[in-house]
Amino acid sequence: MSLQLGDTAPDFSAITTVGPIAFHEWAGRDWVILFSHPRDFTPVCTTELGYVARLKPEFDKRGVKALGLSVDSLESHRRWASDIQETQGLALNFPLVEDEDRKVARLYGMIHPKHDELYTVRTVFVIDPQKKIRLTITYPQTAGRNFEEILRVVDSLQLTDRYSVATPVNWRSGEDVIIVPSLSDGDAAKRFPQGWRAQKPYLRLTPDPRNIAGARASPSTAEFEFETSG
Ligand code: BEZ
Repeated sequence: MSLQLGDTAPDFSAITTVGPIAFHEWAGRDWVILFSHPRDFTPVCTTELGYVARLKPEFDKRGVKALGLSVDSLESHRRWASDIQETQGLALNFPLVEDEDRKVARLYGMIHPKHDELYTVRTVFVIDPQKKIRLTITYPQTAGRNFEEILRVVDSLQLTDRYSVATPVNWRSGEDVIIVPSLSDGDAAKRFPQGWRAQKPYLRLTPDPRNIAGARASPSTAEFEFETSG
């Protein structure tokens, strides 16, 4: 069965462009974006790796580490890295896993044989500091990923972990958020002193609580769960 949200991200050891890593130990207390590339010296991947290197300050702000994977050798990764620097204007500043035996690719279900029997599709796993998988996205080999979208979801996850909120369609950091339906109006009034706009009893919009003095963080994550009964 494929890895699902809430599963513990499988641990592995691997050789990377920055040396050997034991995945869980390397991740430490940070969030991780683990993403696969079909193979080295491919054009779409070259643009993606340059872009991820460019996003490093954004990752750092959020306590996120990037970890790429491509099913080629370390020696090949090193030669490719110089093409990435030359064409994208930035050197790799995060590790790229060598996975010639496809050990990690198989562990994470990165090879979709009906799409390509040999090479990985473009998978993305966002993994939280407790090593839980919080987001998975799979793109075909021909479509470069939107890493702004991945960062947007990290922003949403980090916000909703802290406050009893969810984020609406196309939300961007700083915009209004939704108070989770499981929180009563009485409890919401204590948590969100800024108040809210109720379009429906279950659709209450409030300013991003990080910008509000006096907004209270949730004591537990249990509140994030939407009621499914009734
Ligand atoms: C690429 O990264 O450019 C690519 C890889 C596999 C198939 C098509 C494109």
